[in-house]
Amino acid sequence: MATRTLGVVMNGVTGRMGYRQHLVRSVLAIGEQGGVELSDGSRVRLEPLLVGRDAAKLEEMARRHGLTRWTTDLDAALGDDSCPLYFDAQLTAVREKSILKAVDAGRHVYTEKPVAESVEGALTLARRAAEAGVKNGVVHDKLYLPGLLKLKRLVDSGFFGRVLSVRGEFGYWVFEGDWQPAQRPSWNYRAEDGGGITVDMFCHWNYVLENLFGAVTSVIAKTATHIPTRVDEAGESYDATADDAAYAIFELEGGVVAQLNSSWCVRVHRDELVEFQVDGTRGSAVAGLRKCVVQPREATPRPVWNPDLEETRSYRAQWQEVPDNTDFDNGFKTQWEQFVLHVVEDAPHPYDFLAGVRGIRLAQAGLESSRTNRRVEL
Ligand SMILES: NC(=O)c1ccc[n+]([C@@H]2O[C@H](COP(=O)([O-])OP(=O)(O)OC[C@H]3O[C@@H](n4cnc5c(N)ncnc54)[C@H](O)[C@@H]3O)[C@@H](O)[C@H]2O)c1
Repeated sequence: MATRTLGVVMNGVTGRMGYRQHLVRSVLAIGEQGGVELSDGSRVRLEPLLVGRDAAKLEEMARRHGLTRWTTDLDAALGDDSCPLYFDAQLTAVREKSILKAVDAGRHVYTEKPVAESVEGALTLARRAAEAGVKNGVVHDKLYLPGLLKLKRLVDSGFFGRVLSVRGEFGYWVFEGDWQPAQRPSWNYRAEDGGGITVDMFCHWNYVLENLFGAVTSVIAKTATHIPTRVDEAGESYDATADDAAYAIFELEGGVVAQLNSSWCVRVHRDELVEFQVDGTRGSAVAGLRKCVVQPREATPRPVWNPDLEETRSYRAQWQEVPDNTDFDNGFKTQWEQFVLHVVEDAPHPYDFLAGVRGIRLAQAGLESSRTNRRVEL
């Protein structure tokens, strides 16, 4: 069967996400498996053209992976007709401008989230992409986590009966950078550079809630900057101007209440870095990144509150693990494959710029709720 090549301009590949998840584990991994298989059995290979600001880094990266094409000139890359696709994993604050250039050049666009820094910016991208007739997609990786795929399986099977509530904990301690280096780039803690955990995580929470339990209809949030000064990559102290924790309650269509904590200032006493507990009339589940356990109504024990007695039972032992029953592929790669199918043979792809608009809209509503101390309807 025939194989054809699709060039993709990849901007921001020297970053954490751009390099590891998108270049190495997706685009190059797709190459190693012989390309993306189309419905007629033929294949599409992706040929990356690396774009960034630092020529030395790009050259070294290209050499490391046997690639020949890289440039620091975005306009030139977008003018290259062998590349009908543009991908963006840059710092959020500079994304909108670059995507607009790509749309103007008639390129299909796939991007990291958030699609833009503001709802207005994201809507502009959606409108301009529609006018230009270019395909567009936004990363929605959490839906592909094995734990969440198992949760989706439970929802689709009717396991929960009526879903009542969702309670989620996301977070871990991000070092301040003084006596141990921080595990996240410093821009995450500066509002002026597009940082903040609300903007970062509510984009994810929006599509997770929307696709599993119902669209978000309102939010009450309290955000905080618990650690006011941090130390950056160069060892310089800086003011943390962005929020590093967000405590939120979301109401969903259909009456489900979701309560999600997101924090970079929390020490982990959980099985995984994110966990969601879902309670329904017929059963409950707890899902993490990979694992998921259930407790059906028929197997629910009868706890009785008595603080005078020593606890003797293990509540965790009363849950049953949901088996994999399949091989879970890397979700980032799967999303690339789906976007390529969307571009090449018009396969459905609901995670477009408008889905990205809803993500950033929820983030802005969360920030507004915290700032004004009230519930914000969507
Ligand atoms: N889907 C996810 O789970 C997930 C996780 C983390 C980050 N992200 C998103 O990915 C994007 C990148 O995050 P990261 O953690 O990889 O950050 P990073 O700091 O590691 O990488 C940022 C990239 O942008 C480039 N860059 C930095 N400043 C720039 C500027 N002024 N102009 C142009 N380019 C600039 C850097 O060279 C680098 O290539 C962000 O938008 C973030 O929201 C998504």
